Amino acid sequence: MATSSVWLIPLKLLDEDARAIQLAEVAGLRILPEQQDFVGDPLRMMLVALDEGSRFPYVIESAGKAVGVLTLQAGAATLAGWEDDDSAWLLRGFLIDSRCQGKGLGRQAAAAALLEARRLTLRHRGGQTGVVLSVNERNPAAQAAYARAGFVDSGRYLGGDAGPQRIMHADFLNEGGT
Ligand SMILES: CC(C)(COP(=O)(O)OP(=O)(O)OC[C@H]1O[C@@H](n2cnc3c(N)ncnc32)[C@H](O)[C@@H]1OP(=O)(O)O)[C@@H](O)C(=O)NCCC(=O)NCCS
Repeated sequence: MATSSVWLIPLKLLDEDARAIQLAEVAGLRILPEQQDFVGDPLRMMLVALDEGSRFPYVIESAGKAVGVLTLQAGAATLAGWEDDDSAWLLRGFLIDSRCQGKGLGRQAAAAALLEARRLTLRHRGGQTGVVLSVNERNPAAQAAYARAGFVDSGRYLGGDAGPQRIMHADFLNEGGT
């Protein structure tokens, strides 16, 4: 895989000042109106995740600036239609700023999330063997980004408010997209 130009900044590991700087950048992120069905408000998602023990919020950084966000969550995989909560991390709240989309950053950030989830599993001695997410069937850009990062379509999920979703899963053992 090509060398990645994104870094994941773990908000929970920053001191208060550094975190405030990151959150100010997150507040400036935008998505297109037609994408708002697919993801929540980035600042709100980061603040909620900071408050919850099971969630690990990250700022996606490229060339020294925030270009997106994502969250990894433990014990919640059934929210993406997975068969149990604990065998996989849930990847949620994933977005790239609309001005930075279409440059490969989504694919790279999804691949970085997979690596980070494996590190978290080791650090927290969790039993997860991979990462799962659900993505709207009307969202081909996200499906493509995840597939290019190594996520595999694992079926249909009919939960959620915005219509049918695809369940996508990546196993740590098969890590690595194209
Ligand atoms: C989904 C998202 C994160 C992708 O980020 P990105 O930086 O634009 O993604 P990339 O540039 O890495 O592109 C990924 C792939 O999608 C493809 N793609 C882009 N737009 C597409 C479209 N409308 N239809 C099909 N494929 C598309 C690209 O060609 C690329 O594939 P390739 O590498 O084979 O060329 C971004 O579009 C986004 O933030 N969307 C709004 C929020 C959202 O939908 N989040 C996902 C919730 S599950």
